[in-house]
Formats: sequence, structure tokens, C-alpha cells
Amino acid sequence: MEDKISNKNSSKGPSRVDGRLKVTGAAKYSAEYALPGMAYGVLVGSTITKGTITSIDTKKAETAPGVLAVISHFNCPKVPGYDSADPAVKGPLKIFHDNKIVYNGQPIAVVVADSFERALFAAALVKAEYNAEKHHTNLKDNLTKAVAPHDDAVYSRGMPEAWKTAAVTVEQEYILPSEVHHPMELHAIIARWDAADKISVWDKTQGVKDTQSNIAKLFGIPVDNVQVHSKFVGGAFGSALQVWPHEVAAIIGAKVVKRPVKLVLSRADMATSVGYRPHTWQKIAIGASADGKLVGVVHEAAGQTSTFEDFAEGPSDVSRQLYACPNVSTSNKMVSLDIGSPTWMRGPGPATGTFALESAMDELSYKLNIDPIELRLRNYAETDPESGKPFSGKNLKDAYRLGADNIGWSDRSQTPGSVTKDGWLVGYGISGGVFGADREPVTLTATMMADGKLVLQTAVSDIGPGTATAMVAVAAETMDMPADKIRFDLGDSAFPAAPQQGGSTITSSVGSAVYMACRDLKEKFQQLIGNGGTDKPDYAKVLKQHNLQRLQVTADSKAGKEVDTYAMYSWSVHFVKVLVNPATGVVKLDKVTCVADNGRIISPKTARSQIIGGAIMGIGMALMEEAVIDDRYGRVINSNFADYHVPVNADIPQIEALFVNKPDYNINPIGAKGMGEISLIGMAAAVANAVYNATGKRVRDLPITPDKLI
Ligand code: MOS
Repeated sequence: MEDKISNKNSSKGPSRVDGRLKVTGAAKYSAEYALPGMAYGVLVGSTITKGTITSIDTKKAETAPGVLAVISHFNCPKVPGYDSADPAVKGPLKIFHDNKIVYNGQPIAVVVADSFERALFAAALVKAEYNAEKHHTNLKDNLTKAVAPHDDAVYSRGMPEAWKTAAVTVEQEYILPSEVHHPMELHAIIARWDAADKISVWDKTQGVKDTQSNIAKLFGIPVDNVQVHSKFVGGAFGSALQVWPHEVAAIIGAKVVKRPVKLVLSRADMATSVGYRPHTWQKIAIGASADGKLVGVVHEAAGQTSTFEDFAEGPSDVSRQLYACPNVSTSNKMVSLDIGSPTWMRGPGPATGTFALESAMDELSYKLNIDPIELRLRNYAETDPESGKPFSGKNLKDAYRLGADNIGWSDRSQTPGSVTKDGWLVGYGISGGVFGADREPVTLTATMMADGKLVLQTAVSDIGPGTATAMVAVAAETMDMPADKIRFDLGDSAFPAAPQQGGSTITSSVGSAVYMACRDLKEKFQQLIGNGGTDKPDYAKVLKQHNLQRLQVTADSKAGKEVDTYAMYSWSVHFVKVLVNPATGVVKLDKVTCVADNGRIISPKTARSQIIGGAIMGIGMALMEEAVIDDRYGRVINSNFADYHVPVNADIPQIEALFVNKPDYNINPIGAKGMGEISLIGMAAAVANAVYNATGKRVRDLPITPDKLI
């Protein structure tokens, strides 16, 4: 692309534009709004796992103090969208629709009362009777039932059996438990009907426009009659990419009691009601020549899904394109169980898939006695092995070098268990990560106000990465004006269309729109100024001279033909140094270095935070996180932060975030690609590989808890 942002090597970029609001508590999250006359909803969950409801006794709850309504399938008003033929409209689970129970904890009723405490108390008084049926919740016991959800789930190039003929082979199974997103902010919604066909919601969502259109379709009202506000979101990681049953319950509740209804999930609900990364079995068979060239790879995956939704992450897709290899077969299957639906969770697919592939590559490196980085370089893909297309930009070799230098890779011993320090075993590991780099359509307005302040508006959400900050950085550079004179408005369906914040697309997509709008706006000012203008116009002065209150442009940004020309990806390499206590099996991270090759870094401070956050999530994935179901009852038994472990500060070492920082102008005019997913993808394998290097013990089922090492 000839038209692109200048590549001045800027400073650290702006600090978070909403940082002060967040740390002082002034930033308002969905549950923090208080509307006049507001009532409170609390869900009642099924206590069986599969079967039917025969009766629900709501009398005690209905007569409890402050209760306004108890709604179940016995008295729920009709939800028009439930009858739609479009599966996207219905949503995966039709709440309060019939007597069927498809998972434990499934909402069977909502109690609405005049206070949260009264609703909570009354919810405990609701008693259901069931006709329970035998349930299946165990993935391993049901693996033979695995099926491919669609044709694309199975892939093959070359000869599937080729790996068997290779000089050196590895054939192993890898297990990932279910993981819960557990963002700090609980999922929450306030729903207020403004008229019979008009509604406003304050909702935790990754996409206000998607939530708007989904609610409109579900309740059969015009899309413009739905207002979605989601100004601040305290983390989501994929759990807020769809309209969930609790949101529908609040909207129904508000309709019934004719008051605004606030519904906040409990931490326990978070483990069952807003998706999770699915428990997944994988098998890798890999063969290489004696000099370390890959001959063939077979990667099979089977993940759990619910009985009412076909969901498959696609973990094995990474094996199609991470390395140059002529013979590759992959499959992504799913096993339907009597559980809630899984959903997208940070790095969906490759985060799971790289644990298997990059562990297997590490196993291969020891069998070949080739350094793991060297093995990866010998199989470096110069063009996309899957499509044959050139990459839009790939500088992964730089990433290997930067990371190896930073972590001190030369201190690593190729012999596992051979290095100790103060009685601890020392080990180093690496793993790569990859994720598609997309650019979604965005409409954005840029308005120069009379006082010289620039206002940018689009309906994107910010779930935490600091979108407004990065967008202000793009605008400041393009307009050549100070960042503190720029405001970026987001999180409201009233703004022009933007995609969901998901799939690491926002910086590329919205950033390009910001660039285009600012470029056009600057051009308009140049026209006003005419010849003889300075390089750095005083925008307020120009408006005044021309008697203008404001000057506005709208940019429509989307991907073009380049998507057919290039294979577009972001890459990462994670380097981990661990200490393992040989007596207790405790794993301590000593140092982590993450290197991202994701084009131009436009907001260095928030980019660094994004990489560190992903790395920490990966450390949790490697060492702690595991949602456990007691198969006798089909119930998640660690639906709280006492039993579901995530890393705390004491678990986290020095983490270095490094960037190759080479612009990729083939994908967009700002040269930037996503990093939200690649920050996590690969971390779990890097930790597992470091643990092997330290101990000689290969753990193929996450998390790597001490009992697996002693
Ligand atoms: Mo995501 S799984 O990009 O929210």
C-alpha cells in the first residue's frame, strides 16, 4: 500500500487515556449504574444435569419480602426470536422455554425483587422437582463418540502416513482441562424497557453492535430501538462475545415487572453460564529426518461441547501452517456431553493446539539431539505451507534471536535435569505462537471541534487492552497534534459500526479507520488553508478563520484485495526459565521473555501490558487452571477462586515483552497486527518444555501440578 502512516520511531506513546478513571474507581462498569426504580434479578439453577422439570414450587419465593416476580418456563412471556429459523438469532440455549434440562446449573427461573439481597433470599426458596436421566460429562469416557462438526474440520496434504517412514518419530497424547475465563468483572446487565418496543441495556459485552442486533432479533423489535451501553469492561477474554441466557433473563424480567432490572452473575455462575475453553484431547504423530527436517505431521483433536451447540475450537489448525512440512493431516472433532456450551477463549484453537504441537516439537528435539530453536529454524516456513501464498510480513527469525539473547538461552543445557541452582533444578523452554491477522470493516467519525479538540467515535468495545489509548496514538501521529487534545469515544451502539473486540483484530481494523479519517480530515484542513500553510496547522485557528464550528469526516475502512494475495499472521515466541524443587515438585518461574512479531507497535506501553497479561494467563494455563466436574453429579466443583487457581503476583517473575516492530503495510496502512491472542498462544508449551529441561519429566496433561513431578 502506498498510502500509509509514517514510521517515525515514537517514544513510549501515550499513557492510558482512561487509566486515572480506572484506578480511582471513577470508571463506571455495567453493574455500577443505578437507575430510578431499579429491581434486581437472581437466577435459579438446575440441580440435576439431564432430564426434565416436572414442577417448580414458587409460592414461598413469591410471598417473600420484596419479591416482584418469579419467572420460569411455566409463566415466561413469549420471546419472538425463539421461533426464528436463524440459529444465530435463537442463541444456543432458549432460557425459560421448556422443561428440558441439558446441564447442571442451567437457569430454570429468575427471581426479581426490590433489592439484590431479597432476590437472592427468595431464589433459595424456589424448589424444583425433576425427572432425572442418566448423564454423561466425562470426555475421556466418551472419546469414541467424537465427530467432525463440518467438512473444514478435517484437512490433509501429502501422505497422511508419511511420518511413520521417518528416521525419528514422536507419537503422544496431550490433554487440556476446561478453563474458565474468569475476568475480574462479573458479567452483568441492566435492562430497561423504554417503550413496548424499545429497550436500553448497560451490559458487559465485547461488541455493542452485535449485542444490539441480537437483542433486536430475539425480542422482535427494530435494531435502532435497542441502545447498548458498555463503556468500560473489566476483562472478558471471549466470554462476552455473545448474548447469554442471563442477559435474556434480565430483559424478560424487566418486561414482566415493568422496572429496570439489574442482573449480576455470581462468581459461581461465571464458571457455568458464560462459556469456557473446552476440555480437549489431542494426539500428535510427528516424523523427521536425522538432520531435523519434518517429514510428516498428524494432529488430531477432540474437544467437549454441549448437546445443544456444535462448538469446536480448531486446535489442530496450527499444524497446517506453523512449519514447512509436505505431509500434514489434521482433524478437529467434538464430543457432545451434558454440560454447558464452551466458547471462544483467548487464543481459541492455537492456544490449545500449540500445547500439543510445540510440546511434540520439543520431544522431537531431544530425540534428534538438536537445539529446539535450531529445529524450528530448520523447518522455518518462508511461505504459507497451507495456501502457498507469501506472508504479508513475517520476521520470526528476528524474534528467535531477540528472545534467545534476552533469556540467556546459551546457558541452557541440552541434557535434562543436569543443572541445579541452590538445590533447585533449572530448565529453559521455548514455544512459538501464531494467530491469523484480520482487518474487519469499521465506520468511524473524526470531528475537529472549535476549541481544537479532536473527537473520534466508533462503536468498538474495550475489554482492557487500552483501545482508546492506542487509537489516540494513531490519531496524534497522523494529525500531528498532542494526544491530550484527542478523545476517543467507544462502547455505545449509537456510534458508527465497529466489530466486536475479539480475534486480535481491533488495532488493525479500528486503527486503520482512525488513520484514514485523520488523513482525510487533515486533507480538508489543507484545502481550507490553501497554499502557504504550515506543516503543523493550528486547527482551532483555521476553523475560526473560516467561521466553522467544527469539521467532520467519516471513514469507511475495510480489507481489500490483499487478503487474496497474502497469508496474514501475527507470531510470537515465548522463552521461559523455570526452577523446579526436586523434593516438592513446586515450579517457580524464574524469568519469562515474550517476543511478538506483529507488525508496527503503535502504543508501546499498552502493547507491553497486553503481552505480559497474555503471558500470565499462559502461566495459569500451564501450572494451575483446571475446571473440575464431579461426574457423579455432572457439576463443576471448583466454581470459586479458592479452588480454581489463577496466578497471583507472587507466582509471576520478571516478564520481558519484546517486539520485532517491523511494519506490515501489506495488511493495512498503519502496519500493525494483533497481539491479544499470540501473547498467550504457546506459553503453556514453553513452560512444559522448560519443566522437562529442568527435570527430565514430560507432563502432557495440564496443569503441571507438583504431584505430577514427584
Ligand atoms: Mo477473543 S477469544 O479474541 O475475545
